[in-house]
Amino acid sequence: MLDFAHTTKEHDETRQGEALLIENNVSKGNGRKLYIESYGCQMNFSDSEIVASILLETGFETTKNYQEADVVFINTCSIRENAEQRVRNRLKEFEFAKKSNPGMIVGVLGCMAERLKAKFLEEEKLVDVVVGPDAYRDLPNLISQVDDGNRSVNVLLSREETYADISPVRLNSNGITAFISIMRGCDNMCSFCVVPFTRGRERSRDAASIVKEAHDLFNSGYREVTLLGQNVDSYKYTAPTIEGQEASTPVNFANLLALVAEVNPLLRVRFSTSHPKDITDEVLHTMASYDNICKYIHLPVQSGNSRVLELMNRTYDRDWYINRIDAINRIIPGCGISTDIITGFCTETEEEHQDTVSMMDYVKYDYAFMFAYSERPGTLAAKRYADDIPEEIKKSRLTEIVAKQRAHSFERLQQFVGKNQRVLIEGFSKRSDKDFAGRNDQNAMAIFPVDERYQAGDYVTVMIESCTSATLLGKIVD
Ligand code: SAH
Ligand code: SF4
Ligand code: F3S
Repeated sequence: MLDFAHTTKEHDETRQGEALLIENNVSKGNGRKLYIESYGCQMNFSDSEIVASILLETGFETTKNYQEADVVFINTCSIRENAEQRVRNRLKEFEFAKKSNPGMIVGVLGCMAERLKAKFLEEEKLVDVVVGPDAYRDLPNLISQVDDGNRSVNVLLSREETYADISPVRLNSNGITAFISIMRGCDNMCSFCVVPFTRGRERSRDAASIVKEAHDLFNSGYREVTLLGQNVDSYKYTAPTIEGQEASTPVNFANLLALVAEVNPLLRVRFSTSHPKDITDEVLHTMASYDNICKYIHLPVQSGNSRVLELMNRTYDRDWYINRIDAINRIIPGCGISTDIITGFCTETEEEHQDTVSMMDYVKYDYAFMFAYSERPGTLAAKRYADDIPEEIKKSRLTEIVAKQRAHSFERLQQFVGKNQRVLIEGFSKRSDKDFAGRNDQNAMAIFPVDERYQAGDYVTVMIESCTSATLLGKIVD
């Protein structure tokens, strides 16, 4: 049995995992119990599924109760200071548990492990193992080092590791939607961002293994896959040439999207994240030409002001970003668009902040993730620029854009009211098992009464009757 608790980037709540029965488990039978908890972006959640797969092979049983675990792993995020603080607080709770269970092994995985390396062992006395995102294959060995009385660290980053051959154990799964990691690392150097330091160089995963994973998921009943990478538009994979055969053709992101879309017309394809500098018209045309590629793009703008974008080293300016938005609206009319925004980046003036506000008015995003700038040690911005915008100004700018986004989200959802939407049923709504929940093509969540003729994994037509600023409400029509 595998049970897991996860925490998402945007929502602090910890969700308890669904129990998942693994059949044909070749257990080496050490019978110990593992608990794993994830923070940060979807890449981290996806990595925890790889970690689970690796440890399942060595015979770990898992538990959703960390107090009874022999090994407790926390898969961490470094993106903002408060993400790290949350992990430190959680470690305090583990420290308390360790007092009554001194044999408990505590491991820190992921981005904070990579950022702090062996320093973690000095700073947090309870931590026994520190493992970076490219070293998970070494976990069984690292755990046995701890068994031998040592504390162990492996934070080597790799230029090749993509875990392509590892079949992730699906955690917290609804059995309908799944993530597929298509690349790792990031070669961009956005000046505010810690990811290139914690995740290493960008590398793309073997296209054939991605398509196979999508096939396998479809055959197990899944109906939606989200292709994951920090910058999916720079995906590029060339299969090694076999001696005596013609060189293989490189697969770019547009090609990969088409390959995955062709797995089955009933398999929805989504992806995240696109970078404004790299998203091509070719990708947009591919999206337009497949009904099962969802019409939704997450295109982080960060700021609407060209000077700030330059300081951020985003390598596009306001006009370029607007050009990409116009291309999306031209090639895929009605496409859903969401974004990420940072307020109060170094030296940002009130006037420059207003450029972000006016960008929001121009695009009318369906959804936005919004953050106050948080200086991260070691980043270009930390080295070059003073973090000089007072916290209360960062926060008041944030409050302003959050209010604007709420109004825009409501307005964008209202466009669907009175219309029929094709929705993939993902399961029951969180609040009641009398309602189904599922998303439309543009990623808007719809809630509608259960109709016994249908179940999770079915596509239904929902007549949208009303909406809140976050959800569509309606009923199934034939
Ligand atoms: N690869 C994605 C972003 C990954 S991080 C991209 O390029 O868009 C997710 C978001 O966190 C970023 O888009 C940014 O808005 C935010 N973020 C990253 N570093 C941050 C920092 N130091 N302070 C505040 N927000 C930050
Ligand atoms: Fe960070 Fe920029 Fe890479 Fe995104 S593209 S992960 S923001 S460095
Ligand atoms: Fe956080 Fe690492 Fe993702 S820093 S946002 S978990 S890549």
